[in-house]
Amino acid sequence: MQSNASKVVVLGTGGTIAGTSADASDNVGYTAAQLGVNLLVRAVPPLADVPLEAEQVAQVDSKDMSHEVWRALALRCAHHLARPDVAGIVITHGTDTLEETAWFLQRVLAPAKPLVLTAAMRPATALQSDGPQNLLDAVCVARAPGARGVVAVLGGQVHGARDVRKVHPYRIDAFSSGDAGPIGCIEEGELRLFRDWPQGDALGVATLPADEAPWPRVEIVMSHAGADGAIVRALCASGVQGLVVAATGNGTLHHALEAALLEAQASGVRVLRSTRCRNGRVLSAADEALPSSDDLTPVKARVELLLQLLTDA
Ligand code: SIN
Repeated sequence: MQSNASKVVVLGTGGTIAGTSADASDNVGYTAAQLGVNLLVRAVPPLADVPLEAEQVAQVDSKDMSHEVWRALALRCAHHLARPDVAGIVITHGTDTLEETAWFLQRVLAPAKPLVLTAAMRPATALQSDGPQNLLDAVCVARAPGARGVVAVLGGQVHGARDVRKVHPYRIDAFSSGDAGPIGCIEEGELRLFRDWPQGDALGVATLPADEAPWPRVEIVMSHAGADGAIVRALCASGVQGLVVAATGNGTLHHALEAALLEAQASGVRVLRSTRCRNGRVLSAADEALPSSDDLTPVKARVELLLQLLTDA
């Protein structure tokens, strides 16, 4: 059946893409999350010809991203995705936690339409501002026939929610899909696809806690030289429900930390092992005592554990 959906909804959440500085040559001393999403859209002249709606969901520096904003965002996305006139959604976001939001939305919504996160490494006032082109490219992907799932569009590349990660704190070319590589690229407004869109089953927004209800407490600890179990024991004493460990290499752990994690698991705390290596995955052994997160990075393994605890609640 032919779809009549052509509209793109742009949801603003803040970030450097909405950031400003009094000095156009200052790329670090700016303030994130200052401009409204309507202004960001108006700063991209070619978007005047696109049927588009903009809505401000939040206005945060994404280092301060919260579960409450995630919930609000998931609900607004679910609402707009269900509209027959909407082809896709673009979310303007900070770069710092974009990959966490991307994986959260993919697991909760697994949309059959494109849900595209975009961001910028330079504020809107910078000489070298990358936000306008990224927003234009993101809208192009949100309208692309056959596009689906949660992706991130930055620097002319399309990254899948599972693979995308920020790998540089300053360079404009700051994102990578690790071993998997990007899903595609955008060249002069044309999408070139290399592989399939993200797929999967949606957990659904009903999985998320109601309004003010607390979310499970899931923390990340790291295995390193001189590690001991003190941090794990302190977290357990304070009521943590889930622990992700950023392990060394192929999921190996300092023996003292491992002992504390096994104690935690035995007491009912859910534990997931990921690797602190930038690329690759944890190759599991049949008899492993602590389950591994496969190729999910520690921050995405934390999202996974959070959602597992919510699903089991
Ligand atoms: C943020 O993540 O909100 C600030 C940094 C950025 O967007 O690059």
